[in-house]
Amino acid sequence: MRAGSGSCWLAAVAAAGFLSSVGAARAADETTLKQLETRAAAELPKMVAWRRDIHAHPELSGQEVRTAKLVADHLRGLGMEVRTGVGGTGVVALLKGGKPGNRVIALRADMDALPVQERTGLPFASKVTARNFGKDTPVMHACGHDGHTAILMGVAEMLAGMRSEFGGTVKFIFQPAEEGRSEHPADPNAPFGAKAMIADGALDKPKVDAIFGLHLAPGPSVGSVGYRVGSMMAGADGFRIKVTGRQTHGSRPWDGVDPIAASAQIINGLQTIVSRQLNISKAPVVVTIGAINGGNRENIIPDTVEMLGTLRTFDNAVRNDAKKRITLTAQSIAAASGATVEVSFTSVAYPPTVNPHPLSAQAVPVLNAVTGGKAIVIPLVSGSEDFSDYQLAVPGFFFILGAPPKGKTTATAAPNHSPLFDFDEDAMAIGARALSALALDQLARQ
Ligand code: NI
Repeated sequence: MRAGSGSCWLAAVAAAGFLSSVGAARAADETTLKQLETRAAAELPKMVAWRRDIHAHPELSGQEVRTAKLVADHLRGLGMEVRTGVGGTGVVALLKGGKPGNRVIALRADMDALPVQERTGLPFASKVTARNFGKDTPVMHACGHDGHTAILMGVAEMLAGMRSEFGGTVKFIFQPAEEGRSEHPADPNAPFGAKAMIADGALDKPKVDAIFGLHLAPGPSVGSVGYRVGSMMAGADGFRIKVTGRQTHGSRPWDGVDPIAASAQIINGLQTIVSRQLNISKAPVVVTIGAINGGNRENIIPDTVEMLGTLRTFDNAVRNDAKKRITLTAQSIAAASGATVEVSFTSVAYPPTVNPHPLSAQAVPVLNAVTGGKAIVIPLVSGSEDFSDYQLAVPGFFFILGAPPKGKTTATAAPNHSPLFDFDEDAMAIGARALSALALDQLARQ
């Protein structure tokens, strides 16, 4: 560990007289980190085996039955209190430390795979197909969630072996459906993924004080982790705008109200929200209309036009502001021509992933201690992650576990969601050490 990295084992001792015992504090710190290194190295072959098993048996969002059973059986075998069927197929388990302490720290992994046909050629490559919105579709762990699940199973075993050494509770959250849905729900507004876990009490009983999660990616290099303090990953909101006018003959527009002309103005108006209204020096914003449907022939002005769009934001206040402006802009422009408009934001909504400052200030030194100073500030990530839903409820810190496959670099590795996506399994030991250390560090802050 680098001198002066200031992790909380230091801070905990600091409260008890740090200035007079710097040497002792640092030794305790080193001992815990060394122990985590040894335990993670011993755990790595098991994590690799779990990862390959899960990889060969991927399950789409909301269908993670086999994976959840593998996880629940493992956690029960470690003597934990396990709750299954949380938020659908989610699993939540509690590990209570042997020392006194009231803090509850959650660690989260996502378990779902994607409708992607694997082309990695790996010996444990998926040959699985499953129903995706009613169609048989090839399924692949193309986003590393097999690794996330295996890492957290490893962490569970590491920390269960150390329970006499900490106080408080570690809550393990294995979440389904991070990637969305694989079938149409009876209620389109029913929550899925993190929202469903939260609605089902994953953060309550006992109440979580802080939560941590990670994501495998081709960068940074193996042995490093990437993070940002503040905005890190984009929020994504889908929306639908329905413009209603009054149908008439194309030769007599004055007899009706043209929703196509109004829609054209609305599309341009929406772009001025980004270019003229929002402070882009605070956080970038993207508004996209990706579909527009209305009319069926050249000489009929139709009754209605429907548009589908997405909003991407990196800040929760900007997100809320932009959503209001989208509605106001569409309503005002439609009203100017006598049309009416309905704007609705869909239930497929991911808030931006934002690492709060106080928790980040505690977490980053721990990541640096684990990686030997290789916690790297990365650029904004334009993808989304529903870890952000937990962050809206409790302080949460998310980071990237760098893992380009052996023989590849960040530049040459296939990106997440590619049919060629793979990762260096050695990185799982780093991930397990990092999550364990973050939990122990927080538990020491009684
Ligand atoms: Ni993912």
